[in-house]
Amino acid sequence: MSTEPDTAPGEALDGELATLLEVETFDPPAEFRERALLNDPAVYAQAAEDPQAWWVAQAEQLDWFQKWTRVLDDDDPPFYKWFTGGTLNVSYNCLDRHVIAGRGDRVALHWRGEEGQERDITYAELLADVERFASALKDQGVQKGDVVGIYLPMIPEVVVAMLACARIGAPHNVVFGGFSAEAVRERMEFSEAKLLITVDGAARKGKTAPVKDRVDEVMGDLATLQTIVVVRSLGTPCQMKDGRDVYYDEITATADPACPPEPLDAEHPLYILYTSGSTAKPKGILHTTGGYLTGVAATHRYVFDLRPESDVYWCAADVGWVTGHSYIVYGPLANGATSVMWEGAPDYPDKDIWWEIVERYGVTILYCAPTAIRACMKWGADWPGKHDLSSLRLLGSVGEPINPKAWLWYHKVVGSERCPIVDTWWQTETGAIMITPLPGITQTKPGSATYPFPGVFAEVRDESTGEPIQEGQGLLVLTQPWPSMLRTLYKEPERFIETYFKRFGKETYLVGDAARRDSDGYLWVIGRIDDVVNVSGHRLSTAEVESAIVAHADVAEAAVIGQHDEDSGQAIVAFVTLQGDLAGDEQTVEGIRATVAERIGKFARPKRIIWADDLPKTRSGKIMRRLLRDIAEGRALGDVTTLRDPAVTEQLEGQVKEMQAQED
Ligand code: WT7
Repeated sequence: MSTEPDTAPGEALDGELATLLEVETFDPPAEFRERALLNDPAVYAQAAEDPQAWWVAQAEQLDWFQKWTRVLDDDDPPFYKWFTGGTLNVSYNCLDRHVIAGRGDRVALHWRGEEGQERDITYAELLADVERFASALKDQGVQKGDVVGIYLPMIPEVVVAMLACARIGAPHNVVFGGFSAEAVRERMEFSEAKLLITVDGAARKGKTAPVKDRVDEVMGDLATLQTIVVVRSLGTPCQMKDGRDVYYDEITATADPACPPEPLDAEHPLYILYTSGSTAKPKGILHTTGGYLTGVAATHRYVFDLRPESDVYWCAADVGWVTGHSYIVYGPLANGATSVMWEGAPDYPDKDIWWEIVERYGVTILYCAPTAIRACMKWGADWPGKHDLSSLRLLGSVGEPINPKAWLWYHKVVGSERCPIVDTWWQTETGAIMITPLPGITQTKPGSATYPFPGVFAEVRDESTGEPIQEGQGLLVLTQPWPSMLRTLYKEPERFIETYFKRFGKETYLVGDAARRDSDGYLWVIGRIDDVVNVSGHRLSTAEVESAIVAHADVAEAAVIGQHDEDSGQAIVAFVTLQGDLAGDEQTVEGIRATVAERIGKFARPKRIIWADDLPKTRSGKIMRRLLRDIAEGRALGDVTTLRDPAVTEQLEGQVKEMQAQED
């Protein structure tokens, strides 16, 4: 892994504005603080003094069939185990216990479709759907421990499917709907999924995409995959393969309406979620049952100051990413919250759809990504201005550093300066929020995720000495295990150690982000130190995109970098060398973009393609991405003394200038 910061210091903080705003702080509004679930700063010291006792108190908020015998098993780091000896069931905690306590009539999900369709699903109804579908999965031969793939859009069935898997102890492997069928196939293959749940077609901004037919094109020869369950969502016709494919509605109609929750070991795998790392091969992040649910439920309750009886909570992410797993499905349902689930994009049918939804359902807590806030900012304050947003009381941000300008817009225009903002830093690997303000306690600084959540321990380490930095920039690490941490990389334990625990030893988790600690101890996450890019909150590896680009017949070599982008945070720029004497034209560009869309998904398509006669390499043949970033941004080049052939960069600089001239 390269340790060279991917983002220059401060780059993500909006330059000068950051320096200006760094001195500006925001106290929790007095009224909010008074009523907050947590408003005594002593909670930090208490948790720090005895973190295990703190996490035990959180785990005790869940229903266990059998209590644990040991809180933390740290006999074999970095393979930590939590709450060993305990048994529980995630779907029971998310559904049954609320129904048993007489809260079955509470709305779990206000689902809203792209064309304005609405479905209010209560806890009792969701439980009934989950039980039936869990029975149906068993009828299809799914057993405890079998991996089940899920490739569904933002429809209620995706929540039902995840919880049904959790109920019978079949780890799910959800693939974001924006990934291509090829990417789904790859993930099904790596995880040896036995069954895949997908959909006839998906709605996107008024159009429909034929999902099942695409899946069929690539899935044919995958021997491990025995069954495909098709949800008839749009009613569009699709091919069904005899002996392999079944309809969701048909198998649930004949299934046993009762399916008791399986008592599962605290360390039983709950899910695998593939995410991008430094190489082209995605990493299968494995999360387990007891610690994960403890982490997501506790953070969801305290970071969002959740009042399940009165709040309407909306996380405007996609279930296909970890944000959706932890804060659309598991955290909110474990806490008995009423949530909004929106099928579509933020600008369809029009650019005020989000604000219409906030008004319609009386949303009190909104959790979204900076890229969306920046888009809204660009569209203008008139759109939110058309709606009554006075129900909002708390705002959250996640996925990338939020630039102070967007933070202030969110604060003023959306929150009317009344709502605390929680900028939450975490990762697929951490399972739950790790660094965040507590809204009734923490004074916030726009652009900083502030302090670790109680019971979480973060440090900034000097890159060369490995020593903790009190003030300044370095590598972010987490120094103690936490309940919702990934347990391993699925089927790749060596890679797990190598990626996260090699740099500072097996007890210190290397995050992969650079961060700065200021004189008040606030943490400012800057960006990735590895070859991971973050495009509109979508995590991608440059190697993954490169390998998709070279799959195009005309391409000889490609190097991909993330370039700072006002809208998407980072944008993908590809330097491409074509075969032989081929010259790139508009058609080649479209061809390459189409290849990437097919291999990974449309969201991974490069925004810019720069033709390169050759790529800047060291004498040992390593591509110098740092120089490519300078070239793409039109900056003066840094140190070029290690280059094998300095003439290469001149050609590229000339090429970029020429392309810019053409664009202007
Ligand atoms: C990477 C993890 C966390 C769920 C969504 C993304 C970046 C995430 C923040 C934040 C600065 C952030 C980091 C991290 N990131 N949240 N509040 N401030 N950076 O999960 O896809 O696993 O990506 O997203 O670089 O390492 P993910």
